[in-house]
Amino acid sequence: MKIEFAALPSTPDALVLPVAKGALDAAIGGHGGKTTLAAAASAARFEGEAGGIVETFVEEGGAIRRVLLVGVGDGGEGDWEKAGGAVTARLLTNAADIAVDLSNAKPTPAAAARFAGAVAQRGWRIDTYRTKLPEKQKPQLASVTIAGAPDGTDEAWATQDAVTAGLDLTRTLVSEPPNIVYPASFVDRVKASVEGLGLEITVLGPREMGELGMGALLGVAQGSAREGRLLALKWSGKGQGDPDLALVGKGVTFDTGGISLKPGAGMEDMKWDMGGAGAVVGAMKALATRKAKANVIGVCGLVENMPDGNAIRPGDILTSMSGQTIEVLNTDAEGRLVLCDCVTWVQKTHRPKTIVDLATLTGAMIIALGNEHAGLFANDDGLADQLLAAGKASGDLLWRFPISDAYNKLIDSPIADMKNVGPRGAGSITAAQFIGRFVDAGVKWAHLDIAGMVWADKPGATYDKGATGYGVRLLDRFVADNFEK
Ligand code: BES
Ligand code: MN
Ligand code: ZN
Repeated sequence: MKIEFAALPSTPDALVLPVAKGALDAAIGGHGGKTTLAAAASAARFEGEAGGIVETFVEEGGAIRRVLLVGVGDGGEGDWEKAGGAVTARLLTNAADIAVDLSNAKPTPAAAARFAGAVAQRGWRIDTYRTKLPEKQKPQLASVTIAGAPDGTDEAWATQDAVTAGLDLTRTLVSEPPNIVYPASFVDRVKASVEGLGLEITVLGPREMGELGMGALLGVAQGSAREGRLLALKWSGKGQGDPDLALVGKGVTFDTGGISLKPGAGMEDMKWDMGGAGAVVGAMKALATRKAKANVIGVCGLVENMPDGNAIRPGDILTSMSGQTIEVLNTDAEGRLVLCDCVTWVQKTHRPKTIVDLATLTGAMIIALGNEHAGLFANDDGLADQLLAAGKASGDLLWRFPISDAYNKLIDSPIADMKNVGPRGAGSITAAQFIGRFVDAGVKWAHLDIAGMVWADKPGATYDKGATGYGVRLLDRFVADNFEK
């Protein structure tokens, strides 16, 4: 979809007029068919509610024009985003080129860019495997012209455009089936997608990881016919030197549970158990696309968790790259085994001062927070506050949970340094404590359990049902606000 900020074209398939709550007259001023528009709004009891839409036709100079009123609520960025998403949801399959006139509603530059970003983001879909999609259901919307944007919108739009590119990559990886996206092909997809952006790419296979002693990650991988990979993308936007920030993502391309096999019903959901890694590569793509003035490295631990004659067993003891030993009591608690070696690797090789990991780590997180917030766990209050703020600003919401020595004790093992599961209670917290045991002294660390956020059963403002791309906007904003000053 091409988005352009330019003068109003004369004959778009549809004209979109944003309407702030209670400001209908102002919004439609200057556009033909004023009384028709007012009558249509009144019949629909439309008062400019964010994301609300009234569609009608007006006669202008002998021609019939299709006009949509879209509510922008109180005019905040979030409301403009809802409006942009609603426009695309309505027009994606039934208009080719549309025009939006912002001149009456007067958004801020940031709000105008959020609107345009949502128009683009809500249009993402994956139709690769539909060979019989009826013509009528195919996306048509190719060109969006936005007129009357305020000065300064260009710069804000460059960020939204980059974030949209990152979101597209994340959503595609998350949505692709597990026979297509597995560790090696995940790497290939990412390489192809970020080519030419200036990211420095490192890929480790089983041999290299074996030499480094990454026994925890490799323990999970050993039950699969697909080899594991570690993928690192380094962005040095501030110049050479160690990255200030490391993003680490859980990339389990399919999680059967391993020998501690999951129940069959709903197991297909576990194709999106790589949503943390998906968010990390999407965020790295966004940062590189907009040439962020920050040094950041993104690391993905990529494995498939399968039951097999060679798979790890409950009771096995693994030695992680850190040297710490892990008693595996449940092979379905595999994400932490993958993450711990990635955290050790990035600290040993790149010495970041801050680490943020993202993972679809626990079902318990969904029990606690549903699909509205991701869980945040942090060893530093300042870092936690920065992430909470980036969450609010970007729309990728977070809610903080506690960590402490008392929770940490719950994963002590009678035979090894730790066990990979705690008791029934506080499952998301003990999972976080496990990762925390691999964070070096003095390193600020946050863990985001995004299990409830990667996949949506109903459409949201900027996504349809399915992959949401959660984390990309959050991380881009977190970097922009805290690592580029
Ligand atoms: N990938 C799952 C967590 C998950 C479940 C994410 C449902 C999204 C939806 C993770 O690997 C897992 O299986 N966790 C176990 C941990 C338990 C064995 C301590 C869980 O949550 O049941
Ligand atoms: Mn699991
Ligand atoms: Zn998992």
